[in-house]
Formats: sequence, structure tokens, C-alpha cells
Amino acid sequence: MSKEIVVSGIRSTGYLHLGNYFGAMRNYVKMQDDYNCYFFVADYHSLTTHPDPKDLRANVYRVVAENVACGLDPDKVALYAQSDIPEIPELYLMLNMLAYKGELEKVPTFKDKVRLNPDNVNAGLLTYPVLMTADILIHKGKHVPVGKDQEQHVEMARNFAQRFNHRYGEVFPEPYPFNFGSTLVKVPSLDGNGKMSKSENLNATLFLADDDDTIRKKVMKTKTDSGPTESNSEMPEYIQNVFQLLRLVSTEATLQSFTNNYNDCTIRYGDLKKQLAEDMIAFIAPIREKAKAMQADESLIQKILKEGAAKARVSAAATIAEARKAIGINYY
Ligand code: ADP
Ligand code: TRP
Repeated sequence: MSKEIVVSGIRSTGYLHLGNYFGAMRNYVKMQDDYNCYFFVADYHSLTTHPDPKDLRANVYRVVAENVACGLDPDKVALYAQSDIPEIPELYLMLNMLAYKGELEKVPTFKDKVRLNPDNVNAGLLTYPVLMTADILIHKGKHVPVGKDQEQHVEMARNFAQRFNHRYGEVFPEPYPFNFGSTLVKVPSLDGNGKMSKSENLNATLFLADDDDTIRKKVMKTKTDSGPTESNSEMPEYIQNVFQLLRLVSTEATLQSFTNNYNDCTIRYGDLKKQLAEDMIAFIAPIREKAKAMQADESLIQKILKEGAAKARVSAAATIAEARKAIGINYY
């Protein structure tokens, strides 16, 4: 039986962090043997904020290196840059004809961006979910491993796929967000305000490139309090967040021991944070070193991107031919 198709992308907007790892990349690595995987650097998506042209290349290379350092094997998957696949903007154009201004304006991520950057509300930002839909549908992707924050975008991709099929005949499958656990992951920021992110809240985000001391400093600043005064009391959200981070990188025994300390009111958050910092370092340091070494080898990264694009274009060309035909662009 042929393998099911998986598509996911990460924007090249900065250093990758623990949220990207646990929300997306951990699933990529787990899926690479059993699925037909297309993973890409969403460099077109990064253009909404007009990054300096000088920075694009290093940003894209870093995302590739960090993905490989996390265990992604470019021989098993197609790992490529979005801008190397011209069929993606072509499908994006077709889908834009089926996407309505009103529905795009209602997307919460769009509204957030408008609030944060009222002077840069460009059409690319508005149609961001349409480009994301093209990324997925160009390979007829069925599973989309993403974090919780992307759930709604994938739902829109599903709507656009249905709309295309309804109008032009059955071309696309309906894509769904994917996570190996039962729910999608949201890695909280260290200050308890929202999620870890590449572009916001930098001091409250643990990056895969952070050195040991930076990790220690950030973790020690995590918001806690003087501890519970009644046994088995409910955890405030910011304490739940700290335990969630512990759950990601520490052993079951460590987690259990601090949970017991919390429940019988003997918890010392200083000790918890020290342990969390060391466990984070043990997790991040090997990835950091591997990614650093790889970034020094530009020709290797170029080879990965070229081979990835060649694989991705085979599938993209087949899909776009089908989409053109379905629409009626079939003149010769
Ligand atoms: P960012 O939001 O940090 O700029 P991207 O938008 O490029 O990162 O997201 C790449 C992937 O990482 C997406 O699948 C997204 O859902 C996931 N992701 C980003 N931040 C988090 C987080 N804090 N927790 C879980 N997943 C996340
Ligand atoms: N929009 C995603 C994000 O901000 C990145 C992305 C672009 C993506 N295209 C995609 C994710 C296609 C999954 C599938 O995180």
C-alpha cells in the first residue's frame, strides 16, 4: 500500500525553539519512516514582515540545519525551500479566487498581526492561510503535523480544499492537523504569557541555539511563587506551565517527585528550576552542537535543499497539472 502523505512547514523568521520542536519537529522525525513526508522552509511566508534580503539565506539554512540536527533524515523525506517550488504560488493564485476577504479578515492570527503591526497590513498577510493551503494541497497532503496555534489554519485549508472540489471536481483530500498524542501541543512561554515563539517574547523562549548559561538564566527567571499552602491545591496556570516544561524534558521520576512535593506543600521552586535547567541543557546542547557544525557546511545544506526540491517538484507538477485541467486551463 502506498504511504499516506504528510506536509508541514516552518517559517524562516528566526531561531527555532522548544515550541517548534515539540509542536512540529518531534512529529516530523517520528513520521519519517512510515509516511511520505514533505517538509519545507516557509521562506515566502516570512516575507510578510519584509526581512532584510541579506538575512534570508542564513535564516533558511539554519532552519534546515536545525531540522536535521533534531533527527530529520533528508534521504527519507523531501526537505526543501518553499520558493524552490513554483507550482506552490500557482496553486496559491488559483485558491485565492476561492478565498473571501471577509473570512480571511476574521482569522484570529490575522487580527493579532493587525493589532501588533497596524502599519503593515499587506495582502500577503491577509492571504497567509491561502498560501499555507497551497503548500499542503500541492502534494495532496492528508496529515499536517503542527502545533496548536496552527489548528485553525489547517481547518481553513480543509475548507478551501472542499470548495475547490465542490466547484471543479474531486482533486484534493481534506488535510487534518496531526500529533502523535491525543491533543495538539502548545509549549508555553517561560513568563506564562502565551506560547514560546520565534518572533515574540524572545527572553521567555528557549531556543535550540541557546548556550548553557543562557538556558540556565532564562529558566531561573520562570515565573513561580512561594508555593502552595494547602495540600493538593490546584496549580495556578503559570505553575502548570512549569510542570508542563518538566514533562517535556525530565524523567518520569523527577516529575513525580516534584508533583509529590507540590501536593504536600514541600516544593522548593528554586530546586525545581535548577533541575529543569539542567534537563533542558541535556536536551538542547546536542541539537545545538549538531546544528552549528552543519551550518558550517553550506554545500551540504545546498545539496539537501536541491535534492529536496527535486523530489517535491515531481509531486507538485502532477498536482498542478490536475488542478489546471479541473479548472479548464487545458488549451493545447
Ligand atoms: P513561530 O510561531 O515560533 O514563529 P512557526 O510559525 O514557524 O513558529 O511555527 C512552526 C511550527 O511550530 C508550527 O507547526 C507551529 O504550530 C509550531 N509551534 C510554534 N510555536 C509553538 C509552541 N510554542 N508550541 C507548540 N508548537 C509551536
Ligand atoms: N503557517 C505555519 C506557521 O506559521 C507555517 C506553515 C506554512 C505551514 N505553510 C505550512 C505549516 C503548511 C504546515 C503546513 O507555523
